[in-house]
Amino acid sequence: MQNIVLTGGAGYIGSHTLVELLNRGYKVSVVDNLFNSSEEALNRVKKITGKSFQFYNFDIRDRRAMEELFSKNQFDAVIHFAGLKAVGESCIKPLEYYDNNIYGTLVLLETMKKFNVKKIVFSSSATVYGTPEKLPLTEDCKTGGTTNPYGTSKYYLEGILSDLYKADKNWNIILLRYFNPVGAHPSGLIGEDPKGIPNNLMPYVAQVASGKLEKISVYGNDYPTPDGTGVRDYLHVVDLALGHIAAIEKCKEPGVHVYNLGTGVGYSVLDMIRAFEKACGRTLPYIIESRRSGDVAICYADSGKAERELGWKANYGIDEMCRDQWHWQSQNPNGYSK
Ligand code: NAD
Ligand code: UFG
Repeated sequence: MQNIVLTGGAGYIGSHTLVELLNRGYKVSVVDNLFNSSEEALNRVKKITGKSFQFYNFDIRDRRAMEELFSKNQFDAVIHFAGLKAVGESCIKPLEYYDNNIYGTLVLLETMKKFNVKKIVFSSSATVYGTPEKLPLTEDCKTGGTTNPYGTSKYYLEGILSDLYKADKNWNIILLRYFNPVGAHPSGLIGEDPKGIPNNLMPYVAQVASGKLEKISVYGNDYPTPDGTGVRDYLHVVDLALGHIAAIEKCKEPGVHVYNLGTGVGYSVLDMIRAFEKACGRTLPYIIESRRSGDVAICYADSGKAERELGWKANYGIDEMCRDQWHWQSQNPNGYSK
């Protein structure tokens, strides 16, 4: 069975992917500096799967630690989640974002090259499309025009990875452009645990439902959408995790393989609030505020390429996304801290 490195494996998407890899018998080494996560997430993964794995608590920018890890193991591939991801914070701390996301990835790639590991699955984002040129977005739509350093770091990294393949045709590079991952593992044991006040819609909604926050701010109701609020392609995090398994298993040939991972369906902010109300059984207070800068009106995927080539398709719908997000939130009102 394949031997995989998971950078950022203690994080939200990483921990869910770890569960699916272990359930399928993969050997996994997690590298995470726990900057935005908790070791408790890894304990919970052990509880869900009954399986063990290696955990290395270091920063991917620590070249010596990286080389030591690769020198002691024969890896087949890397799934690379580690990085900083808060859009607003990236505008205030651009250098920290470029250092972590770009320099961190360069150290990883140089280590992989040195030890002849040439398969990488990279966490990219729908944000690389900037303002969508058409909807639904297909992988050949133009990229760039990103509006913040976080998004720009993803755009640059896609370019760096593509250049690497141009220089050495033995690399197998898989760029997964995630749309909006939400929800949690159906067990309620792992989920998203944002530090401080959540920036993203669904963790915010969940904390209003649990009484931790007072009311939801809806950023704009004057967009050209059916109810005026922003439309996104929300995707269950377990479906997203399964997309990584499909990519590792189906992309066997060298190349640069690009896939959108979304459901293909767009829901508005008010649609999501209503679905969450159904899941938690209470009415959620919200107020309409002005638009958030940098937001696009509508963004959703054409994920047909992933379906045709990877055999992957999102299975969970909006009700399951809200059910599982609420299950996680209500069982763990303070996330991983007791
Ligand atoms: P997350 O913050 O929960 O997970 C990232 C993990 O990486 C954390 O555990 C963090 O501690 C670790 N990490 C950060 N910098 C590190 C470093 N230098 N060395 C070692 N570990 C480090 O985020 P997530 O939501 O799970 O996202 C995973 C990846 O997917 C990120 O690259 C993110 O940009 C990308 N992505 C996320 C979304 C989303 O909405 N969640 C959307 C598109 C793309
Ligand atoms: N929104 C609100 N109130 C909130 C938070 C969000 O109304 O408190 C709205 C936004 O205006 C937007 C929608 O809810 O219309 C979704 O916003 P999120 O912040 O949850 O998600 P984004 O689409 O802005 O961005 C997310 C990630 C990015 C990633 C992108 C595409 O934060 O990192 O999805 O994958 F790049």
